Amino acid sequence: MDFRGKLILAPLAGITDTTFRLLCRENGADVVLTEMASAKGLLLQPERTRRFLEFREDERPVGAQLFGASPGEIGEAAVRIRELGFDFVDINMGCPVRKVTAGGAGAAILANPRLAGEITGAAVRSARIPVTVKIRSGFGQESETYLEVARAAFDAGAAAVTLHPRSRGQMFSGCADWRQIGALKREFPDRIVIGNGDVRVPADASRMIALTGCDAVMVGRAALGNPWIFRAMRKGQLAAVGTGAALPHAAPSDAERKSLILRHGEEMHRRLGDAGIREMRKHLAWYSRGTPGAAAFRAELVRVESLDSFREAVGRFF
Ligand SMILES: Cc1cc2nc3c(=O)[nH]c(=O)nc-3n(C[C@H](O)[C@H](O)[C@H](O)COP(=O)(O)O)c2cc1C
Repeated sequence: MDFRGKLILAPLAGITDTTFRLLCRENGADVVLTEMASAKGLLLQPERTRRFLEFREDERPVGAQLFGASPGEIGEAAVRIRELGFDFVDINMGCPVRKVTAGGAGAAILANPRLAGEITGAAVRSARIPVTVKIRSGFGQESETYLEVARAAFDAGAAAVTLHPRSRGQMFSGCADWRQIGALKREFPDRIVIGNGDVRVPADASRMIALTGCDAVMVGRAALGNPWIFRAMRKGQLAAVGTGAALPHAAPSDAERKSLILRHGEEMHRRLGDAGIREMRKHLAWYSRGTPGAAAFRAELVRVESLDSFREAVGRFF
């Protein structure tokens, strides 16, 4: 897998399911990832965990993200990921949520670069598909370990390292410090470094590449309600990276927008029934951002509970 010059959809728990990923792929995202799935869960409760790992052929290249604290479990789970047909495995070493870090996984691994290397090595040896690692700056604001953790991961065979340059303690506050992405790339000029964090508007992607020299850009929150952001970036990014085909129009027309939103809900309903429609409430709130009347529309979303009420709401508002 070559990540160079790619626009990557970030893993977002509860959001980047197969339906949303496909919409992003169709609109210029080059690579997508599942949300994080527990390695232990995959081994002990495969049926329950598989729902996080559903994907469709037309998403490819698609990676699965695992979290866990044990090299043995990550290694075994990585085999399952290959057997499920994924193109690569990503290991989460950045999740700041207490439920994950209390078990020694996610951002907790940043406090222990050696463990980061052992976990990566276990995955690389057993997966036989590329293994990537996603990290933050460090576990605490005072102790930034990203260079050591990245070194351990690369030495253990990681195909790429993604850096979201905030510490665990920062959660999502403050700004992502892109200078750290630059420092990581300078430290590992021959390795693949993926930059992530606060890419908000299309021009930010090329700006991040220009400022940091990173090989690829990962976008999370800016894609919420805006899967078209990737094709807008693709247009702006061509000069900077020189790869990929330009998509004809960056901004969707009103009709195109409406049709994608309808398709999003219909596909969610096909997969998950009315539960999928209830999940669409948050997407509708995101899709409506910046449109006049959005606040009133959001207040009505609790009544969107069937395919008919979804279609009616979309028909009325978009
Ligand atoms: C709601 C939400 C869920 C997230 N879930 C995950 C996850 O499952 N795995 C992961 O590695 N990062 C997760 N992240 C972090 C994002 O992948 C990304 O690193 C972060 O949001 C910064 O990028 P952005 O500024 O482009 O959003 C999540 C972030 C948010 C806001």
